[in-house]
Parts: sequence; structure tokens; C-alpha cells
Amino acid sequence: MNRTKLSNTLRKLKLIYVVDKIRFHIQKFKNRKINRKFKENNPSVVLPPDYLIYESFQMNYHKYYTESVNSAKELVGHIEKHIQLKEKKILDWGCGPARIIRHLPTIVNNGCSFFGTDYNTKTINWCKENIAEVNFNNNNLTANLPYPDDHFDVIYGISVLTHLSEKMHYNWYNELIRVLKPEGIMLLTTQGDNYKTKLSESELEKYNENNLIIRGKVKEGHRTYSAFQPKLFMENLFSNSTILEHIQKEPQNNWIPQDIWIIKK
Ligand SMILES: C[S@@+](CC[C@H](N)C(=O)[O-])C[C@H]1O[C@@H](n2cnc3c(N)ncnc32)[C@H](O)[C@@H]1O
Repeated sequence: MNRTKLSNTLRKLKLIYVVDKIRFHIQKFKNRKINRKFKENNPSVVLPPDYLIYESFQMNYHKYYTESVNSAKELVGHIEKHIQLKEKKILDWGCGPARIIRHLPTIVNNGCSFFGTDYNTKTINWCKENIAEVNFNNNNLTANLPYPDDHFDVIYGISVLTHLSEKMHYNWYNELIRVLKPEGIMLLTTQGDNYKTKLSESELEKYNENNLIIRGKVKEGHRTYSAFQPKLFMENLFSNSTILEHIQKEPQNNWIPQDIWIIKK
């Protein structure tokens, strides 16, 4: 049985959470030495609880903290092509335990203000207690943010749509557009053509017909809930905005890059 079939069978049998917890412990065990070394070398870095790191990313402190400085710089590079980051309000939607947003006040210290929101209460409680330079909010799964219309200059969401249903793609897109200023910039990542290799035959057929592919049967928004977005699906989603860039990087070694969409309201 291949991995896709196995994953779909585990979902049907409601065993995917158990397998995911086992995967967490395996990653924790495999990375125990490099994680210990990271703590020894970086005693001043405040780390979230292990499961929060795993749930939103990978159980690897170096990747969560050090490598994410580069990811944050890369993100800033993409955004700065379209807007000057000076005295701007920036929102990280689905921020998790602040992997990216915790680095932005150092990378972009130009009078900007920083906000993070996530539907995971534990992760937001940790962020509120530990990351002082960012304003955090705990939202619901449903698309309803406590910010006024036209509030943010920049919004980004890294691997958040990838865990949402079709209905939520539309609802969240509309909500994010509501809180984005006119001419504001939004960057979202998706599982596009690079992820075709992960799809089963029947999923691939539907994907090639430009349908969103959903692997659900688990709590929506959780890491085990997966969505795969064909290009045309995203273009239709963004039909009332201007698409500035659609970036598809080449896969490298074991890394499968998500597509990056940059749009303007
Ligand atoms: C794969 S993680 C990515 C976390 C973070 N963006 C990063 O790159 O490290 C997906 C995140 O989206 C969050 N999420 C899922 N559905 C959400 C929703 N409806 N609203 C806000 N956050 C959501 C999850 O709790 C999780 O933190």
C-alpha cells in the first residue's frame, strides 16, 4: 500500500491522530541530539513546547528558530518588491508559535507594527506570554477577525489554506480582504503542482480538472487536514484582486516548496 492510500485508510479508520502523535515522538527521538545541542548553544532563545512546534512545523529547534530567520528574510524580500515596509501594519494569519513573526521586528524595524492570529488557543497563549513585540489574537476556525475594515497594509499566511476546506478558502479570503487596506499586499502559500506526486490517481484526476483536493475526516485546520490547490482554482479565488506574482520553486532533495501567491487588493 502506498503512503497516500495508507493515509486515506487511516483517516477512514479515525487512526490518523494516533499515527500523527507517534510521528511526533519519532521526530522528537530522531532529533534529540541536535535539539539538545541547540539548547546548549542558544540558552537565551525561548522555545515553545515541543508539540506546538511539531503541530505547526517540524520537531527541530534549529529549523524552527535559526532556519526560520532566513525564511522570514525571504518573505520580507517577496513583500518588499511590492510595498515599502515603513510604518506598516503587518498580520501573520495562522502564525502558529510565531516561527516567522517573532523575527520580523528585528528584520523590519522601520516603525512597523506586528500582529499574529491563529485558531489554536494553546499556541496563541504561548505567543502572548513569550513574544512581547507582537500583538496576538486567538481567532475561531470560522472567518471572523476582530480587526476593522481596511486595517492592515500587509497580510501573509504560510501554509494555512493548506489545512482548510473549500468553503473556508472563500470565507477566509473574503475576511482577509476585508481587513486588508486598498492597495494592501497579501501573500499566501498553497500546495500546488509540486504536490501532484503526493496525490492518488483519483485525486490527481480531479486536481487536473482544477478541483481543490481535500483530505479531511479530521479536525479542519489541524496539520492532518490537507488541501491541494490547482492554479486555476486559486486564480478564481482571487478573481476580485490583482495577482502580482505566482511563484513555483523547484523541489530540492526532500523539500517540496509550496506555491507562493502575492496579490494586491
Ligand atoms: C502548518 S501550520 C503553519 C504555521 C505558521 N504559519 C508557520 O509557517 O510556521 C498551520 C497553522 O494554521 C493555523 N490555522 C489553521 N486553521 C486556521 C484558521 N481558520 N485561522 C487561523 N489559523 C488557522 C494552525 O493552527 C497552524 O498554526
